[in-house]
Amino acid sequence: MHKPVLLKESIEFLKPEKGDIILDATINGGGHTQEILKKIGEKGKLIGIDQDAIILQETRNKIKDENAILINGNFRDLDELLKNNNVEKIDGAIFDLGMSTVQLEESGRGFSFRKNEPLLMTFRSDLNGSDLTAYDIINKWSEKDISDILYKYGEEKYSRRIARNIVNQRERKEVKNTFDLVEIIRLSTPPFYRNNHKINCCTKTFQALRIAVNNELNALEERLEKAWQLLFSGSRLVVISFHSLEDRIVKNFCKNKSVAEEGKILTKKPVIPSEEEIKLNSASRSAKLRSIEKNYNEFIEL
Ligand SMILES: C[S@@+](CC[C@H](N)C(=O)[O-])C[C@H]1O[C@@H](n2cnc3c(N)ncnc32)[C@H](O)[C@@H]1O
Repeated sequence: MHKPVLLKESIEFLKPEKGDIILDATINGGGHTQEILKKIGEKGKLIGIDQDAIILQETRNKIKDENAILINGNFRDLDELLKNNNVEKIDGAIFDLGMSTVQLEESGRGFSFRKNEPLLMTFRSDLNGSDLTAYDIINKWSEKDISDILYKYGEEKYSRRIARNIVNQRERKEVKNTFDLVEIIRLSTPPFYRNNHKINCCTKTFQALRIAVNNELNALEERLEKAWQLLFSGSRLVVISFHSLEDRIVKNFCKNKSVAEEGKILTKKPVIPSEEEIKLNSASRSAKLRSIEKNYNEFIEL
């Protein structure tokens, strides 16, 4: 089961109230949504989006509230998705980025280096032929392009050696499953790195591939801007990110809004999980929450 991260803090910053219309752009199992629903009551409305149709179906079975609209889609299209559901403005939005524990452990789509699964790594569960997968990157991209994403999205210092060995290996036999990739990474990295107990030698490569497959960083700012445009004045945006590249984008987004006097930053420093939360849920350890409130428009109509 996925345990919602920074749940209490998210709700405190989002401040959902009776009758509010709230967007949960990454609803997954509805951990945050269920708390939001309690706060907004029957007169409120919750719009939840997720790319993963399988998880969303389970969430539909669990959340029976009539005022919850659950949409299978990509939050890059959130303006369209909301418009199609007759929602013009919102009183708050939450983005809890990345993947859930359920996707990591149970999706069978190759997110975990501890399980031998096909190399997909897509948040979408219902793939069509044109969806990019980790298999495509590993077996079809050039050595340079593979090396570049491992370095850029994983900050993997052995990116070149890993990319070289991926290309060498695939010339003999396609790299099909996660364990094929794990073997290549192990052969490409020195013993002290392979045997590091704090961070597994595969973590950075797997993270980089997942980010590239799901296009996670590209235009994140643009997607936050879409949600921002829909917010009523005085409403809040809450974003939880799980790696420094993502957090930097969120931080800059908030800073730009503050400099332009469009919003007030509510988290001067990112909020991080308590030691107790990390003990109960180790997946929360790298989480960072940032929040910003939209300013009231000072334009006064005559
Ligand atoms: C960390 S989980 C959210 C967990 C949820 N807040 C909870 O507590 O149950 C992130 C979810 O976002 C979804 N997701 C990631 N990128 C997305 C995108 N661009 N559009 C829609 N959903 C996305 C993933 O499929 C995943 O289910």
